[in-house]
Amino acid sequence: MQQEYLFKILVIGELGVGKTSIIKRYVHQIFSQHYRATIGVDFALKVLQWNHDTVIRLQLWDIAGQERYGNMTRVYYREAVGAVVVFDVTRASTFDAVLKWKDDLDSKVTLNHGKPVPTVLLANKSDQVSLQQPKLDSFCRENGFVGWFETSAKENTNIEEAARCLVQHILANEENTVIDSEPGSFVLTEYTAPAKDHFNFSCNSCAKI
Ligand code: GTP
Ligand code: MG
Repeated sequence: MQQEYLFKILVIGELGVGKTSIIKRYVHQIFSQHYRATIGVDFALKVLQWNHDTVIRLQLWDIAGQERYGNMTRVYYREAVGAVVVFDVTRASTFDAVLKWKDDLDSKVTLNHGKPVPTVLLANKSDQVSLQQPKLDSFCRENGFVGWFETSAKENTNIEEAARCLVQHILANEENTVIDSEPGSFVLTEYTAPAKDHFNFSCNSCAKI
């Protein structure tokens, strides 16, 4: 039987870090050097044939960097099941703001059981500078990111990999609660996630699925 999911994903981070560029690359396979700031929020849809019997629709919410000090984020974040926080490796101030975005997110949206929404960290514009990896591993572990990737929207590096990592974590949450139905009653049971190597894929994952 064909299974379909629709996941709302937030893409957040400071002005000009490349959120729109990453989405355009991922969804439309295009890149432009021209910067036009997003106003409010934009949307894009990516359809993934996840495996032979699963289709996943990712509804990507491209939130303007200038919304960080606005009060609309609560409305935008509602019912999200995953998030991407982006910073620009050429500008340290955008990394300094990562935790402000993450805290804003965690304070305004959680999953049904109060768990934070799985979030990946993207170190974008990696075509310009390379990073110190060990530092980001511990940063992710300490701050609740499920993984991080060096990406380039310009050169199309690691964007699909990051999306796959995020979707795997979202699916693991979906499967964590299996509804066992008997006439007139619902019992919530814990689902045991498959071993990690069940996924033919690796990422800089800081949290085990
Ligand atoms: P706001 O909408 O203002 O929040 O910005 P944004 O995060 O959506 O940034 P946007 O995607 O508009 O990109 C800003 C600028 O960075 C543009 O000039 C892009 O061409 C450039 N840019 C984005 N990604 C990359 C990248 O991977 N490498 C390089 N070299 N430039 C990039
Ligand atoms: Mg934008």
